[in-house]
Amino acid sequence: MRPFVLLVAGVAALGGLLFGYDTGVISGAMLFIAHDFHLPLHMQEFVVSVVLIGAMLGAITAGASADHFGRRATLVCAGVIFGIGAIGSAVAPSPIVLIFARFVVGIAIGLSSVVSPLYISEVAPSKVRGGLVSLYQFAITIGILAAFIVDYVLAHDGSWRWMLGLAIVPSLLLLIGMIAMPESPRYLFKIGRDQEAQDELQRIHDGDGWKIEEETIRSALMQRQGASTEIFAPSVRGALFLGIALAVLQQITGINSVIYYGPRIFAATGVSGAEAAILATALVGAVNVLATLIAIFFADRIGRKPLLYAGLGCMGVGLLSLAYVFAQPGAALSGLALGSLMLYVGCFAFSLGPIVWLLISEIYPLRVRGIGMSLATLANWLANFVVSLYFLTMLHGLGGPVTFSIYAAMCVITMIVVARFVPETKHELLESISGGPAGG
Ligand code: BGC
Repeated sequence: MRPFVLLVAGVAALGGLLFGYDTGVISGAMLFIAHDFHLPLHMQEFVVSVVLIGAMLGAITAGASADHFGRRATLVCAGVIFGIGAIGSAVAPSPIVLIFARFVVGIAIGLSSVVSPLYISEVAPSKVRGGLVSLYQFAITIGILAAFIVDYVLAHDGSWRWMLGLAIVPSLLLLIGMIAMPESPRYLFKIGRDQEAQDELQRIHDGDGWKIEEETIRSALMQRQGASTEIFAPSVRGALFLGIALAVLQQITGINSVIYYGPRIFAATGVSGAEAAILATALVGAVNVLATLIAIFFADRIGRKPLLYAGLGCMGVGLLSLAYVFAQPGAALSGLALGSLMLYVGCFAFSLGPIVWLLISEIYPLRVRGIGMSLATLANWLANFVVSLYFLTMLHGLGGPVTFSIYAAMCVITMIVVARFVPETKHELLESISGGPAGG
């Protein structure tokens, strides 16, 4: 692979870094925000969840923007919005301004969560596409961990404005980086800028590989006209539902209960002291980053489906063991709680995390890829919102054993969906995947 391709994917993945940072940073910052602004509980919940509402709005507009103005322009725009949101949050004089600024940040997260993986998958040569799109998930996990470390370090003097404001650094990098990056060759063909598209393909591929890509892209584009309503055509409907199902399953197997509420889970399983609970969560965050490397190296070698099976199986084991811990609370089991969560998060990190983003960037035909990804990503944010909203209620109402067993059952259902409906997309040209088993 040419270093240039890695650079392009790396810059676009900054969108993932901001996604992780901005969703992760609030848990630590909230403590001090609540104190400074004298926020009642429902307002605190709103400051946290308004990001997810913004993300839904961003996600639903992202596809149309990516198809109309281009992938690159949309990511540049996301960089600007991330920056405005970071500054707005850092200087917010009142809760209302803070809520608005966090909503703005959410819009940027929604935009980039559609367009970053979409852009990377369109630029990547097919042999390394799995690894490069997994780089996006890697960036998300680094963002989450960085947020956690920043929260921890700045907690001493309660500098929540710095916690939120530091996101300006990756925002500027994304903005400047994307201005310098090329447009996706597939998008250029789609809008008829063929010469530029050919030039970009030649920059991406070694030797004559680009000619085959050009041919397949052109013939895919000629097959039918690309009205956005085509996403509901019978031939694409299968892919549409599969993308939405995968996006929802990624969330209802419970990942953000752990990412957003880690310290509370540890506290409930007997890890004593807030500091120990926070450190245990940081450890889980580190596993989240490191295990993603497995997907980067193996998504193109052993394929997407084997990673999904292995990851889902072990996630289920981790969840059941956590359910067991909750069934017999006591400090003696806190080590098992930590081990279970590390197993669960580590396995998510090389399977359902990256591979869902990868698959939803692969399975839609080029003509409707933007809108298809938008809908799947919207479903992802919606499911995230619902799970985060009800996790604590579930934990208190149903108890730990039932809650985590439900998540484990969801892993089994996801496995069945993978076995039954997900096509193996390893090494396939994007155009050969569209209309494959998922699209039929
Ligand atoms: C999910 C996020 C989650 C993150 C955890 C992503 O793939 O979409 O909701 O917070 O992984 O690493």
